[in-house]
Amino acid sequence: KNDKIILGIETSCDETAVALVKNGTEILSDVVASQIESHKRFGGVVPEIASRHHVEQMTMVLEEAIEEAKVEWEDIDAIAVTEGPGLVGALLVGVNTAKALAFAKQKPLVGVQHIAGHIYANRFEREFEFPLLALIVSGGHTELVLMKEHGDFKLIGETLDDAAGEAYDKVARMLDLPYPGGPEIDRLAALGEETIDFPRAWLSEDSYDFSFSGLKSAVINKIHNAKQRGETLKKEDIAASFQASVIEVLTTKTLRAAKEKNVKQVIVAGGVAANRGLRAEMQTQFERAEIPLLIPPLSLCSGTALI
Ligand code: KG4
Repeated sequence: KNDKIILGIETSCDETAVALVKNGTEILSDVVASQIESHKRFGGVVPEIASRHHVEQMTMVLEEAIEEAKVEWEDIDAIAVTEGPGLVGALLVGVNTAKALAFAKQKPLVGVQHIAGHIYANRFEREFEFPLLALIVSGGHTELVLMKEHGDFKLIGETLDDAAGEAYDKVARMLDLPYPGGPEIDRLAALGEETIDFPRAWLSEDSYDFSFSGLKSAVINKIHNAKQRGETLKKEDIAASFQASVIEVLTTKTLRAAKEKNVKQVIVAGGVAANRGLRAEMQTQFERAEIPLLIPPLSLCSGTALI
């Protein structure tokens, strides 16, 4: 048989996921068990709870993914698993499942770097062309990665403090919005107007690095000050103003890097890639610059993005 079928396992954070993929581009099955309801009341992911849920869900998710894909064990060529970065206890569940399966079924075991997984989710849409620039924006990462060929990742910029998604979640908490805050702010921002001029952290002129903690503090101060003065700010306007700052910095820096590095393609990946404002602005800017832009379908950005 010529087809290559890989069984992939992911447990780096708060979702237990198993997928079967044929020849690198065809998804045969993709089963995700979300734990969001268990973490919601704590306002964020609790690592110990995440690990326990992975243990409880893994067998079920695995069996469902294999059944849905309609494949037999002998058709599966290798087991792949997210090896990190992520929550250590959560990762351990996936890695140990993968090791046990690889041993029992005598299949090769492939460890996959988490960020590489986010980038390669785009390959279900289109073949990569190099050099390629990837912007990874999630709850734990904000990175610009330059790729000259498959498997070659060069970090050219990263956040010096909070990740973009983390800033979204923290600002959302200040606005009493439920966890995860990103989708909530996205929704409110569409209803508001940019009435507050929040700062943009450009850092040095040639820097591809990011910083979101100053912006987060500016939003928090604005809310505190308004409360003390008895003023009411519209949540929608705070969300729209905060989001405008994040989007402008992410888009401008990514566009500058894409031009300076002469890339053939730009990819946006990670949970924040689900943000409607960011998707729209990126699409406009890159179309104007005539640089092909790939943003994965919402279902492949992140599980949390779906709620
Ligand atoms: O990639 P992801 O599911 O998990 C990791 O962090 O690895 O990303 C989750 C992050 C959370 O911070 C969440 O608030 C943010 O992505 N997010 C969004 C949106 N959907 C999810 N941020 C802004 N707008 C969204 N629509």
